[in-house]
Amino acid sequence: IYSEGRRNSRGINLNINSQYQPLIDEMATHMDTVYDVRPLLAFDVAADAERRQTVTCPFDRRVTLGHVQWTSAEEASRAVDAAWAAFPRWEQTPVEERAAILERFGDLMETHTAELMTLCSREGGKLLTDGIAEIREAVDFCRYYAKRARADFALPTELQGPTGEHNQILLGGKGVFACISPWNFPVAIFCGQMVAAAVTGNTVVAKPAEQTSLVAHRVVELLREAGMPRDVVQLLPGDGPTVGSVLSSDPRITGVCFTGSTQTAQIINRSLAARENAPLPSLIAETGGLNAMIVDSTALPEQVVNDVVQSAFQSAGQRCSALRVLYVQEDVAERVIELLKGAMDELNIGDPRNLGTDVGPVIDEEARAGLLKHIETYREQGRVIAESSLDPRQTEHGTFVAPVALRIDGIDSLESEQFGPILHIATWKGGEIDKVIDTINGLGYGLTFGVHSRNESFAYKVAQKIRVGNVYINRNIIGAVVGVQPFGGQGFSGTGPKAGGPHYLHRFATEKTRTVNT
Ligand code: NAD
Ligand code: ALA
Repeated sequence: IYSEGRRNSRGINLNINSQYQPLIDEMATHMDTVYDVRPLLAFDVAADAERRQTVTCPFDRRVTLGHVQWTSAEEASRAVDAAWAAFPRWEQTPVEERAAILERFGDLMETHTAELMTLCSREGGKLLTDGIAEIREAVDFCRYYAKRARADFALPTELQGPTGEHNQILLGGKGVFACISPWNFPVAIFCGQMVAAAVTGNTVVAKPAEQTSLVAHRVVELLREAGMPRDVVQLLPGDGPTVGSVLSSDPRITGVCFTGSTQTAQIINRSLAARENAPLPSLIAETGGLNAMIVDSTALPEQVVNDVVQSAFQSAGQRCSALRVLYVQEDVAERVIELLKGAMDELNIGDPRNLGTDVGPVIDEEARAGLLKHIETYREQGRVIAESSLDPRQTEHGTFVAPVALRIDGIDSLESEQFGPILHIATWKGGEIDKVIDTINGLGYGLTFGVHSRNESFAYKVAQKIRVGNVYINRNIIGAVVGVQPFGGQGFSGTGPKAGGPHYLHRFATEKTRTVNT
């Protein structure tokens, strides 16, 4: 809603028609670009063939998109030196100036939508609809955080006090933030982290996911073009454990903003805690989920299936918000499953650049192998309920996984998040709802959750009892919109901040209370 042409409030049904044709034509001009990029640091980085990685395309591994040079441990450490030195100057830069850079950056990304979408598709395997939503979300983050920074950070907040005393609270930066991001939102989350940290007065060393370094590089080029000083935001593409451990063990890192798996967040947390003589850091972590949806017998099966298919299989299930476990009340399970099978039969899996494709590839071979192993375990137990089919002509050269629905006894039988197009289905009997909710809560994840019911008091009761960051009633559970559905979870799913929400920037700030005896 902060950008023109925003996707609708349900985050889907983007009607790609003739109005998008110019965008698609422009994308065609970027389809063959070959990239050769290096870290974007405060200092120049020399070419080093040994650290040069080849980037290929997830939907056709025969296609090489270019090369990216990984950041060395020594360069990562020098980048922190530069960020540390730049912090006092950047912190004193007026909020208005910092916010204006974000807005220019948002405008530039909007003008380069086609180019960025092409990279999201070629490097990250994103569908066109997902690509549009991705760039919009990144632009929204820039505009929303610029607005929030002006409102909350530009002037001190006046406080009460006794006569003869003037009290105020002032917000400032904390220092150097390491921003570490995942590949599944290579523009939106990558940008959201960086701009939130920078607009609040911090300097930033940003580590994008290995799989999506090219698009991250292009985004930081645009950020520099928008006026961001090169020592304030630096880009450190590279291997997670190598670059990540340099950053999380450096005592000058005052905060880490991380989005990715729960396991990596725990590694970072331990590394930060093990530092000697380091100030206590901030950890903003947004991690994985085992997201469920409860459907009762009053729900509309057609609507349920529509929302389930979107929640579980859109973006090939590679959303932290995606639906992993559907709990259907026994009385309607047969009907819901019958409709679901029909819908899954209709899904087209293939080249994400085709408008008719519903499900693109998963990110890489390692991801595919893990997902297939999980599916095979359930297949051997006769638990496959439904499975879409792969057309070999569409999928033979890429890393594709056919959407599948698997029968389980309960969510507690799952060991971990399966980050792909796998839906698990369990049934429940009337009278068991409290047990189901307790089981979901008992797992300790808490990201998204859905409930489908036409019994309002049931839906609200369930929504109230479930411990998650984002709960959705009678709709899909993906596609949170900046400023509308602030997004983030709790427990194993994160430390609680809500990206795109009114309090998010405060997580990056120090607060100073000033008392003047007048
Ligand atoms: P990941 O944890 O493997 O990687 C995330 C980032 O951490 C990457 O940049 C990676 O290079 C880096 N990294 C890896 N090891 C590191 C280390 N030892 N120290 C520091 N950094 C390290 O996750 P992924 O596979 O890129 O992303 C998928 C995961 O992200 C899923 O679990 C998904 O649920 C989660 N996710 C969560 C949200 C959210 O908002 N809650 C959003 C998107 C994705
Ligand atoms: N914010 C993303 C969503 O809601 C992850 O799907």
